[in-house]
Amino acid sequence: MSTLVTGIGELVSNDPLLGAGPLGVVHDAALVAADGLVAWVGPATAAPAADDRVDVGGRAVVPGFVDSHAHLVFAGDRSAEFAARMTGVRYDGGGIASTVHATRAASDSELRTRLAGLVAEMRAQGTTTVEVKSGYGLTVDDEARSLRLAREVTAETTYLGAHVVPPEYAGRRDDYVALVTGPMLDACAPYARWIDVFCEPASPHSFDADSARAVLEAGRRAGLGLRVHANQLSAGPGVVLGCELGATSVDHCTYLSGTDVDALAGGGTVATLLPGVEFSTRHPYPDARRLIDAGATVALASDCNPGTSFTTSMPFCVALAVREMGMTPVEAVTAATAGGAQALRRDDVGHLRVGARADLAVLDAPSYVHLAYRPGVPLARTLPLRT
Ligand code: NIG
Ligand code: FE
Repeated sequence: MSTLVTGIGELVSNDPLLGAGPLGVVHDAALVAADGLVAWVGPATAAPAADDRVDVGGRAVVPGFVDSHAHLVFAGDRSAEFAARMTGVRYDGGGIASTVHATRAASDSELRTRLAGLVAEMRAQGTTTVEVKSGYGLTVDDEARSLRLAREVTAETTYLGAHVVPPEYAGRRDDYVALVTGPMLDACAPYARWIDVFCEPASPHSFDADSARAVLEAGRRAGLGLRVHANQLSAGPGVVLGCELGATSVDHCTYLSGTDVDALAGGGTVATLLPGVEFSTRHPYPDARRLIDAGATVALASDCNPGTSFTTSMPFCVALAVREMGMTPVEAVTAATAGGAQALRRDDVGHLRVGARADLAVLDAPSYVHLAYRPGVPLARTLPLRT
């Protein structure tokens, strides 16, 4: 079975060899999908025949968004914490414990229902690949359970046992790190592709550079790829540590020193920016312009979580990145698609070359620019295809 998608007023391929500019834009385009992959792409006038046909009526099509950072396995509600922040209370990670409490108390089916609902919200807004972290269980069984459930919805699962030190380990951080790097890692590694750590010495709840190094090195020995929550609340050691250890991505990058920017510009580690967090914590937005001008690779992700960024919307992140972070629409769309793919070391998503996964987001608009130009308007949806 193959499907011809036609009537594409503007196609963002992310391949400069296929079309104009860095986004490889093709006007009046068509695309054939077969076996779930892009089989042909080009001008509509040259399109081959296919078994089925979908006409998108002159709309713009972009690669499905690749949301490379999300925490979707949790229970409970922290709207009161958000409301308190809006009166001036500062975020320091302390609220994570309340989500841990609610998550431990929830049944598998409650967690699964919440997770499925959030993934459905993402898909409804154009996201076709999502990474999902554990990190609200923080016992051997609850972390393994979180990752088992995450595996039901995505291959991009991340073990975040080192999210915070849970209450029962208060004052015994080293003992908790031993658990995270020992029995908890053994139980979680079979369900995880990645390991992550919240490296933020400025928070009394998270991990300093030595602990973060121990966690990441143990994960690497277990065959996991490395990711870091770094420099969210202060210009701490996380970014440089992640770059030194060859992390695939360091995420947040809100407070950066010149050394941090140099490390990101000079290496292969992606800087993943999460503007939903700054929206919800009232911290300053990360300076994407500075990173891009220095030569760093930037990704955008939602960081969907109940504490610092309870949004599933990649279009919202694109709009914030353009308005608040100095990115152009071209850069923001690239970061939300190809950038996310790089942050997950995936070459089959984030672009629409032949051979890519046929993951399409259709915009109810004539151009990708509308993602930033019409903020808050539900323009994007994924296109289900019969292939
Ligand atoms: O990415 N910073 C650490 N972790 C999450 C927030 C978790 C929470 O507050 O529940 C983040 O911002
Ligand atoms: Fe996060």
